[in-house]
Amino acid sequence: MQLSFVAPSAVNSGVWVAAAVEGPTLLPAAERADKSCDGAIGRALKVSRFTGKPGQVLEVLAPAGVKASRLLIVGLGKPENFDVNGAEAAAAAAIGRLKGTAETEIAFEIDAPKGGKARGGKLAAHLALGARLKSYAFNHYRTKELDEHESKLKKVTIFTADPQAARKAWRPCEAVADSVFLARDLVNEPPNVLSPVEFARRAKTLSKLGLKVEVLGEEQMKKLGMGALLGVGQGSERESQLVVLQWHGAKKKKTAPPVAFVGKGVCFDSGGLSLKPGTAMMGMKGDMGGAAAVVGTMRTLAVRKARVNAVGVIGLVENMPDGKAQRPDDVVKSMSGQTVEVLNTDAEGRLVLADALWYAQMRFKPKFVIDLATLTGAILIALGAEHAGLFSNDDKLSERLTEAGKEVGEPVWRLPLASAYDKLLRSKIADMKNIGGQGAGSITAAQFLQRFVEKTPWAHLDIAGVAWQDNEQKPLIPSWGTGWGVRLLDRLVADHYEG
Ligand code: BES
Ligand code: MN
Ligand code: ZN
Repeated sequence: MQLSFVAPSAVNSGVWVAAAVEGPTLLPAAERADKSCDGAIGRALKVSRFTGKPGQVLEVLAPAGVKASRLLIVGLGKPENFDVNGAEAAAAAAIGRLKGTAETEIAFEIDAPKGGKARGGKLAAHLALGARLKSYAFNHYRTKELDEHESKLKKVTIFTADPQAARKAWRPCEAVADSVFLARDLVNEPPNVLSPVEFARRAKTLSKLGLKVEVLGEEQMKKLGMGALLGVGQGSERESQLVVLQWHGAKKKKTAPPVAFVGKGVCFDSGGLSLKPGTAMMGMKGDMGGAAAVVGTMRTLAVRKARVNAVGVIGLVENMPDGKAQRPDDVVKSMSGQTVEVLNTDAEGRLVLADALWYAQMRFKPKFVIDLATLTGAILIALGAEHAGLFSNDDKLSERLTEAGKEVGEPVWRLPLASAYDKLLRSKIADMKNIGGQGAGSITAAQFLQRFVEKTPWAHLDIAGVAWQDNEQKPLIPSWGTGWGVRLLDRLVADHYEG
């Protein structure tokens, strides 16, 4: 898909997109379009239910008087509410409308509504971002009916009064979009293909971007004492891996402590011997969504040459049942020295994170550590797909994450940590067990993780409800894998940790 930012001119072919605000009130470009086609838009409006609300699209096919093959009027909502998220959603709605058509070109002529929060180059860049994110498809394994699934769009043009500024604003957006695509690809990839070793190999290819990427195998992890992580992978034919990605971008102090991201990378979660029922196992290829977000974030930082030191640590395992598999009742020793009684082999994510979190802190002494994990089904019950769960020992980090989440449309909701929950983790023979009681499943999981966090400011994001989606629920996400977290972490770094 070729993208360009240019000064407005006549649209001589393909789709012409203009906008209306709530009313509906046509903005100048839409007015002009309406005049050129002798009021066809006005007539279409009369028989439509288009009111200009966000997400709405009015479509007029091949009207006489214009050379465009199609006119689309997208709703921007109330001018005072219109911001970059609205711009992304509007562009995505237009792209979504072309699904199944043979259109190859689209030109956006979206006027900034008066009193809105998005205009100029930034508006143009975020229109492009919405269009790009919506254009994603994962058709790698289709051999038939590609017509139905493949977009024919080749050329996307964004009209803007200041193309220079738009191109500049687009650069970091492009880095983020491509990295979201990488994260979505990893989540969509089937588990027979994406083993821990294959995931690690793909992470390794990012070294061409200037990232330092190390891969530790089971031998090395054994030497480090990572008994918690290794126990999870023990029943799999495939070797567990720990991948460490480093980005050194801090300008003044090359040795400044890095920010650290840790990801759960369970390439397939069968539950292990505490086997999941068949229906609950479906989709468990996505149980590496945390690791995918970390890799996507590190890629973004490298591509846009972020002025920050950052590390990503991902624990890659496959949770399978076989004769060598870990048993419910086993006791494992983590790298921290603490022992865990594994009463349910399906509560495996926390075991992987225990060692990955510890490793990240011991080796890098980071400024903060944030882990992302599809950790509990309970978070889906609590928050659904609209927020990820946030747990943290640090109010400032929490506020920053909450703010960044709102900015990029990946909102998080903070839930409590409290020592009162600790008694639920008491084990009869070890330092702790890996499951809590009946209630508060997401909290006891977070409480478990906290035992592997030292004095470092830490936040845990339980992304089990947002890492994938079944229907196309989210306006910017056309696929099962969402790539959730890449935009959030990139924004957090950009807002607070570069300089
Ligand atoms: N990967 C799952 C959590 C999950 C469930 C993610 C559904 C997405 C959708 C995790 O490893 C798990 O199995 N958690 C158990 C924990 C329980 C055994 C304490 C759960 O949530 O049921
Ligand atoms: Mn599990
Ligand atoms: Zn899991």
